[in-house]
Amino acid sequence: MLNSGIRLMLAPMAGYSDQPFRRLCKLFGADEVITELISSNAIVRGNKRTFRMTELHEDEKPASVQIFGSDPDVMAEAARRVATSGCSFIDINMGCPAKKVVRNCAGSALLNDPDLAGRIVKKVVEAVEIPVSVKIRTGKNSKNKTGFDVALQAAQNGASRITIHARTVADMFTGPIDYEFVAKVRKHLPSTVELIGNGGIESLEDAKRWIELTCVDGLMIGRGAVGHPSIFRSIKNGEAHPPIEKLDTVIRHCEWMIEYYGPKYAIGPIRGHLMNYSKGFVSARKFRIEVGKIDSFEELKKTIELFFTKELESAA
Ligand SMILES: Cc1cc2nc3c(=O)[nH]c(=O)nc-3n(C[C@H](O)[C@H](O)[C@H](O)COP(=O)(O)O)c2cc1C
Repeated sequence: MLNSGIRLMLAPMAGYSDQPFRRLCKLFGADEVITELISSNAIVRGNKRTFRMTELHEDEKPASVQIFGSDPDVMAEAARRVATSGCSFIDINMGCPAKKVVRNCAGSALLNDPDLAGRIVKKVVEAVEIPVSVKIRTGKNSKNKTGFDVALQAAQNGASRITIHARTVADMFTGPIDYEFVAKVRKHLPSTVELIGNGGIESLEDAKRWIELTCVDGLMIGRGAVGHPSIFRSIKNGEAHPPIEKLDTVIRHCEWMIEYYGPKYAIGPIRGHLMNYSKGFVSARKFRIEVGKIDSFEELKKTIELFFTKELESAA
């Protein structure tokens, strides 16, 4: 069981942490959720599709909206507009390694420019009445851990919370977790600034290791929740995911996706999640091929029920 003072959060994940998935993780005990990264330029241009990504369901609150960009004024204006969604934090992305983000000096490119990172935080903090958080990595590579300076700049300029994905940009999503770096940031941050740890948490043991080595205030889980939204509850209570709940979970997730995207557009993203839910089952490959051919939700539901019922019976 996890120390009850530690909060567990769902990480922002482009393509996964949409509204239905965030609601599901909340249902399973996530204390907070965050939207995927959203372009400040697109928000300020008034792009309707982008703005819809900032909308929050009552069930998922407290929730943060994450924005990215490199122009302090545009970021401030985007934050002002986004704050109307009722989010509890504006989160600023300073860790994304994607080329289309970095080439515009946003995301992880800001790790190379602590001064600009600080100016962005200052403008955003001045623009909104809600707290502002920043999500960083440790640095560009193992020789260049400027994430430390960025964390301090962010705090000095008014950020209330720093989340560290404790890997370098060069390590992408698989490198070692640098607990020492996070512990060092904790020592130098004012105690009023919350510190959240992120990277490689897939079990209660992982969560305990993080807490023991870093003294963070909360933990953020990304890929460990994909296909396993109940990870929040199992880490909190030290329990395994009951198999029958898995079928209910998958069906509920699909229904919420239909509700959010509409039947026509939901099937594609649903297929993606089904790949993850079926991982590790004996006839997963056959199931995925079948799912790929189905276009109606009613038929999909029958196939899902048949697959999980059969698999879970044979596992019992
Ligand atoms: C598919 C995918 C999309 C991601 N999208 C975002 C994003 O939009 N914003 C962000 O700050 N981090 C993003 N991340 C990084 C995660 O939030 C998290 O920092 C990273 O996956 C490490 O946590 P984990 O080991 O628990 O997965 C993404 C990661 C993945 C795998």
